[in-house]
Amino acid sequence: MDKFVITGGKALKGKVTVSGAKNAALAIMPAALLNSGENVLHNTPEVNDVYTMIKLLDNLGVKTDFKDFTLKFDTSNITSQVAPYEHVKKMRASVYVLGPLLSRFGYAKVSLPGGCAWGPRPINLHLEGLKKMGADIELDGGYIIAKASKLQGARISFDVSSVGATGNLMMAATLAKGTTLITNAAIEPEITALAEYLVKMGAKINGINTSVLEIQGVDELKAAETTNIPDRIEAGTLLIAGALTRGNVELMNVSPGHLNSVLVKLEDSGVKMSVDKNCIKLDASNLDNIRPVDVSTSIYPGFPTDMQAQWTAFMSIASGVSTVTDSIYLDRFKHVPELNRLGADIEIRENSVVIHGVPRLKGAKVMSTDLRASASLVLAGLAAEGETEVLRIYHLDRGYQRIEEKLISIGAQIERVAGAEY
Ligand code: EPU
Repeated sequence: MDKFVITGGKALKGKVTVSGAKNAALAIMPAALLNSGENVLHNTPEVNDVYTMIKLLDNLGVKTDFKDFTLKFDTSNITSQVAPYEHVKKMRASVYVLGPLLSRFGYAKVSLPGGCAWGPRPINLHLEGLKKMGADIELDGGYIIAKASKLQGARISFDVSSVGATGNLMMAATLAKGTTLITNAAIEPEITALAEYLVKMGAKINGINTSVLEIQGVDELKAAETTNIPDRIEAGTLLIAGALTRGNVELMNVSPGHLNSVLVKLEDSGVKMSVDKNCIKLDASNLDNIRPVDVSTSIYPGFPTDMQAQWTAFMSIASGVSTVTDSIYLDRFKHVPELNRLGADIEIRENSVVIHGVPRLKGAKVMSTDLRASASLVLAGLAAEGETEVLRIYHLDRGYQRIEEKLISIGAQIERVAGAEY
């Protein structure tokens, strides 16, 4: 297990290119199980969750070839419909194979994802939706066993907007008999990217980019080639790195529109921003005081829960008190005690944190617990005086493509140290 040793206090300056979106790639890759042929995804990030999905797809018989951020994945010879525990326990997004396998082959056996680092993350909406479409679903030995000779179009309305359930059911509906209507569908950019890829495959979907999706099933889909969208969460994380080090950074290959809620909050904190088509410039070099800014996470286009921990790190050095509320995941605060080890003054109150800004953080050893929590610790380490060790950064490697190289290229001092005891 590797760790990062960060010497804080360096203002970050320069240009950095944002990678392709992890969460769009993790939806698009299993969608290819709906067709038979060679699919291509450009701008695929080299992150461990993508490698886990590649292994899972390999296991199902998909032939993959991943070079220079282009993933070729051939679904002509699927030999299994089973997603084993060893893959699903590593990554919950493995459950995305359920809808496509069931819809194309009439059978899927997928391990139930277990708990998650920050509390329950149910998949009831995925299963209830598939049942509405006529699937027979039983849970046995820790596995979901789903059968349907042919899925049928259905009316589905989510009580809670869910990225994963929207993706899974939209994929399943593309090959169902008849029309499926999904209301309160997620409109996250990763879902829109998935829908656009399905359309390239020949799927009939109306209402893309809205919360009402109408999917008319077709008999078969063909292989397709597409380019992934930029990762909005990596982009937001890099912007906060620039802001809390009082730096001056320019992000390339980004979709500013996907990040509007974060850009507005950054401006409210006093940071200067300017936005071009695929580029965002942030200037915090003359920022004396970071203004405290409250944030409450919500579904897209609201402030993303995946930026909550990073925002909390930023506000820990603001000049005053701020509140951050997570209304998507009520218990996603594992980073808070670790940030406090770095000298932050943050209290957890139910699903909110109250952050009393401190003038400076001080380096210490801290432990990563999940992907975005780790990102917040790296950010805090960049701002802290002295040396911070962030242990167990394998969490970070799941979703950020060699983040230390990107940060070093804009002036950060970070060393990756390999070692078993971390
Ligand atoms: N929910 C249910 N039942 C379900 C599904 C979801 O009650 O069947 C609830 C969840 O408990 C949560 C809310 O609905 O309160 C939203 O969960 P959602 O299903 O949208 O999350 P997800 O699809 O499991 C994706 C991202 C997460 C991101 C969330 C929210 C992927 C692979 N993962 O998860 O990303 O936090 O949407 O935006 O797309 C990350 O990248 O670090 C990450 C965790």
